[in-house]
Amino acid sequence: MAKKPVKLRSQEWFGTANKDGFLHRSWMKNQGLPADLFDGRPVIGICNTFSELTPCNAHLRQIAEKVKRGVYEAGGLPLEFPVMSLGESNLRPTAMLFRNLASMDVEESIRANPIDGVVLLTGCDKTTPSLLMGAASCDLPSIVVSGGPMLSGRFRGETLGSGTDLFRFSEAVRGGEMSLADFMDAEAGMSRSPGHCMTMGTASTMASMAESLGMGLPHNAAIPAVDSRRNVLAQMAGRRAVEMVHEDLRISKILTRAAFENAVRVNGAIGGSTNAVIHLLAIAGRMGVDFALDDWDRLGRDVPTILDLMPSGRFLMEDFYYAGGLPAVIRAIGEHINKDALTVNGRTIWENCAEAPCYNAEVIRPLDKPLTESGGIAVLRGNLAPGGAVLKPSAATPALMQHKGRAVVFETIEDYKARIADPDLDIDEHCVMVLKNCGPRGYPGMAEVGNMGLPPKILKRGIKDMVRISDARMSGTAYGTVVLHVAPEAAAGGPLALVQEGDMIELDVAGRRLHLEVAADELVRRRAAWSPPAPPMMGG
Ligand code: FES
Repeated sequence: MAKKPVKLRSQEWFGTANKDGFLHRSWMKNQGLPADLFDGRPVIGICNTFSELTPCNAHLRQIAEKVKRGVYEAGGLPLEFPVMSLGESNLRPTAMLFRNLASMDVEESIRANPIDGVVLLTGCDKTTPSLLMGAASCDLPSIVVSGGPMLSGRFRGETLGSGTDLFRFSEAVRGGEMSLADFMDAEAGMSRSPGHCMTMGTASTMASMAESLGMGLPHNAAIPAVDSRRNVLAQMAGRRAVEMVHEDLRISKILTRAAFENAVRVNGAIGGSTNAVIHLLAIAGRMGVDFALDDWDRLGRDVPTILDLMPSGRFLMEDFYYAGGLPAVIRAIGEHINKDALTVNGRTIWENCAEAPCYNAEVIRPLDKPLTESGGIAVLRGNLAPGGAVLKPSAATPALMQHKGRAVVFETIEDYKARIADPDLDIDEHCVMVLKNCGPRGYPGMAEVGNMGLPPKILKRGIKDMVRISDARMSGTAYGTVVLHVAPEAAAGGPLALVQEGDMIELDVAGRRLHLEVAADELVRRRAAWSPPAPPMMGG
């Protein structure tokens, strides 16, 4: 039997028969709300990141209507409110620069209003972490409803994956294998329905993280945006939000250390984005959960990648849903899962997933036939990254994961763009491309430029991957032997700032090592001569 809380928070606004109560109720009634909606029923805020400037979230008004239907059915009052929406494809200089700002918007919008529970409508990359961060700081009953991925891209008989095939086509144009006209024709085929990127990019990863953390209903991650079952999930989430308020099932009961451990392991199994590292650490920080960068390596190391999705593999989110979705993945890696972790439906994660069927063993592969033996995120350290750096083994070239090469250094992204196509650039496929000043302070906002395109003269020889190192991030839809998030960043005076053209750099993924072969006294001399770069220009 559900336990009724002693007093609903919203009743501090709506439950008094005095001047303040009049003020709060009267103005709300200008929306045509009957008086009995203020009788002490739970008020469910619907935190909506809808925006036509965030194309991945442009359908969230429809999803919000389904959530409202569910809230009313369960005897609650739904009230929708907008928050800052972060669209990856349009925002400059980078959506990441505004993630924390958006999370503050979410936090203060929830805290300052008469809300008892909240449904978080998310989609494009940063909208999931920013809403989870804001909600975590408020500790109300909260549930995530992701907008869902786009349908698989289709173009001239080929299946296209968001981002991943953009990078592939872009390299093909630069390598002279594809015409510019064909390249532009592919745009509409790649993004042909509402929803977010349908590769296992950051949006799909974060939707999967929300589900594996227990913050979304089963199948939240993979149901396509336009599948009617996405509407059903939204309606069920609305109903469930009301029940969660009655049960006082707050976010702090769900976002525990056990939940974060589950999310790291699921990220390994799905070949999830490196961006999840940054976002989960931030969410855990809001919750006060003891969870650190090295947990990613330790917990994810033994988890094989079993999901064959781009960019690590072949398939797309639509295939993932039809194959059984995230519950089937969680069942498959059950030995790595904290089975008692609670989820928003009031059941444990294992109660939700223990019987989950897999309908396609090519998409969700068995544990003994994985895509990559060691999935997860490799956390590298060494004199080049004393604060750590990350690499995604499932998206890297195995032969390059143990590599020593001569550094070709780009001081800024502008320097890279100016010189990369120069036929006289002194570079071959054995070199290590180094990009500086693209971290949180340097860019600013830690741009997704770490997977620098290769020089055209190398691409033309059919070579598709080289070791690349930077303090930037990389799109979750990207791939390659790419070392990211080098810390401290160059603009803050990290050792990356001291790398010079011709230095030798050693990458040893198995040994989790990133080493700059320059004598310590020489590094001291270089540091003495170093001065911070000018602050970057904003916008443009
Ligand atoms: Fe929005 Fe990829 S651009 S999810």
